Amino acid sequence: MPETTTTDGLTLPRIGFGTAALKGQHGARTIAAALRTGYRLIDSAFNYENEGAVGAAVRSSGVPRDEVIVTSKLPGRHHAHDAAIAAIEESVYRTGLDHLDLYLIHWPNPSQGRYVEAWEALIEARERGLVRAIGVSNFLPEHVDRLVEATGVVPAVNQVELHPYFPQADQRADDASRGIVTEAWSPLGRASEVLQDPVLVRIAEGHGASVPEVILAWHARLGVVPLPKATALERQQQNLAAIDLELTDADVEAIASLARPDGRNNDQDPAVYEEF
Ligand code: A2P
Repeated sequence: MPETTTTDGLTLPRIGFGTAALKGQHGARTIAAALRTGYRLIDSAFNYENEGAVGAAVRSSGVPRDEVIVTSKLPGRHHAHDAAIAAIEESVYRTGLDHLDLYLIHWPNPSQGRYVEAWEALIEARERGLVRAIGVSNFLPEHVDRLVEATGVVPAVNQVELHPYFPQADQRADDASRGIVTEAWSPLGRASEVLQDPVLVRIAEGHGASVPEVILAWHARLGVVPLPKATALERQQQNLAAIDLELTDADVEAIASLARPDGRNNDQDPAVYEEF
């Protein structure tokens, strides 16, 4: 699978696997199946309450540990330095692995104003070898500015909501200008109306492909790493194969026309929306 390299030297595959809501034994089996299907980038978070399932999946999958990028994220309630360090240590313990590969600040929570402190903790965790690479999620350019001004350390990754109704052109350009790899959460718009969009249906028919494949191929074409979640094996396989689908320039232009100013799924604007 073609790859993207971050400024931290982490080599990311061009598509990853989202795990929100995959937990317990069923979750561990589903994630292990994704690994055996060929996914090598697994996205998790402290707040998904499934770091244990992710670790169990990695250990039972038969895939060598050093071939898998395991990601987790720091919750908003643990931005204070010591709480952040303890949360990262807990994330590692929960997986049962000896380190994580990528660790992100889940949301900036600007009204709390402690994301710089959290970033300093992530830098320390990287220096200690708890995590190999560090980044952010849902950070607007102004939030990234503050991290860089305070520490000089640029995030390796920024994971944001990104799908055809909310393509994040400005955010992508800002990330790219800093060498930050953009990852997409909810790349399929959480299987909402976007999967029935007539423009996408027409493009999919033209390629003999499905709409999810077209959407994920579009992410790859933009240089964004999508993190689709899929429970059924056939969907996991279909989504992984999407990376080989080549869209035409006309397809990409048509998809760009679907952008909506209010295209977020649940109105989660990081300037005001916060998670703890
Ligand atoms: P499920 O997990 O039940 O298999 P997103 O990644 O944007 O959050 O979207 C996840 C949703 O999209 C899930 O409901 C998932 O279903 C569904 N999904 C994932 N892959 C496909 C696919 N290839 N076709 C249709 N629905 C899919």
